[in-house]
Amino acid sequence: MEKTLSSQDLMKIEDQYGAHNYHPLPAVLAKGEGVYVWDVEGKKYYDFLSAYSAVNQGHCHPRIINALKEQAETLTLTSRAFYNDKLGPYEKYMSAYFQYDKVLPINSGVEAVETALKLCRKWAYEKKGIPTNKAKILFASGNFHGRTLAVISASTDPSSTTGFGPYMPGYDVIPYNDLEKLEEALQQENVAGFIVEPIQGEAGVFVPDEGYLKKASELCKKYNALFIADEVQTGIARTGRLLATCGNCSCEKSCGHQPEVKPDILILGKALSGGVFPVSAVLANDDIMLCIKPGEHGSTFGGNPLACAVAIAALEVIKDEQLAENAMKLGQVFRSRMQSLVDKSDLVNLVRGKGLLNAIVINDTEDSSTAWDICVALKENGLLAKPTHGNIIRFAPPLVITEEEIHACCDIIETTILQFKK
Ligand SMILES: Cc1ncc(COP(=O)(O)O)c(C=O)c1O
Repeated sequence: MEKTLSSQDLMKIEDQYGAHNYHPLPAVLAKGEGVYVWDVEGKKYYDFLSAYSAVNQGHCHPRIINALKEQAETLTLTSRAFYNDKLGPYEKYMSAYFQYDKVLPINSGVEAVETALKLCRKWAYEKKGIPTNKAKILFASGNFHGRTLAVISASTDPSSTTGFGPYMPGYDVIPYNDLEKLEEALQQENVAGFIVEPIQGEAGVFVPDEGYLKKASELCKKYNALFIADEVQTGIARTGRLLATCGNCSCEKSCGHQPEVKPDILILGKALSGGVFPVSAVLANDDIMLCIKPGEHGSTFGGNPLACAVAIAALEVIKDEQLAENAMKLGQVFRSRMQSLVDKSDLVNLVRGKGLLNAIVINDTEDSSTAWDICVALKENGLLAKPTHGNIIRFAPPLVITEEEIHACCDIIETTILQFKK
């Protein structure tokens, strides 16, 4: 009989045979259900990362898994060389759900970002009349849009860029949350668009000032540049609304239907599949989307029937289980508990976030290991979270979490931090 491998064994194997492009917390997970995950020794944890917000609907949600199983037994991939019976209905569903004329289905988050950037350039040449190869796209400092060469070329984080040049031209990076600098940049020649995260997740859950997104989108309109929202992390109910760009809409009633800020291009990924496998999408209206013609962009797996079935199930769960409303309500509970921790502890300076995308800022330098060490202590106490920098810990549980569970988790965080010795 084969020997059962322990966590230590499995970590060693990963270390020996896998590339060292991640630095995981030492927890080896073998099972997930709802807000919980279990390691190979059977220890149970609250998952407060949710696979970087891909598992908003909770681990292995039965409705999503059933859709996956059913479709997997029927038809998984046709490529776009042919039509398939799931893609059209999925596109229609997405277009009604997010209120756009059209959707372009793709796989990972970064591919959706690349798609949006290509679409923006194409629109700039075809509709705005920017001279060939002169289009410029604006990015915000501190951005995280993924890991491809075109996307890291706009990154301001040396760990994303160092050693990977030369970089893609045609970008301009301006400060995040700075409308004056945005307007100045938009006044330059040949600006095609501005891409922005409504809340910067990887940077450490930076929430811009109230009104920033609305004004930014108005400025884009004024200067005839596209306003592109990367909602790969903030979208699909994470921040207490279906979309973080939907401003002041009343989520309890019609989340996303009367958005205060309507991006010209909307980018979604992660929770679009409920964490089952990579499914992403770019949404836009016809005047923009139809700038890309047959043969000009695509992907073998984009729009596959399995992804279509899974994504519909994942979005139905969001709506039927009112996960945006739950995130909004429990986010307030979480931040108020963390605020009381800020008052009690010298170690925590600040809590910030929206809905159930939150972070605490630790009283130490960015290059310290304090946030990591706290995450290791949290793990020992049954809660998994990950630092985004040496002094910031992001807390993003699955949105199916209950109020009782949120309080239990706040108790763990509070006890761990109050007992923590640097
Ligand atoms: C805002 C944002 N955009 C894009 C991405 C890239 O997504 P993926 O890792 O699926 O390529 C991420 C991943 O964290 C993200 O947070």
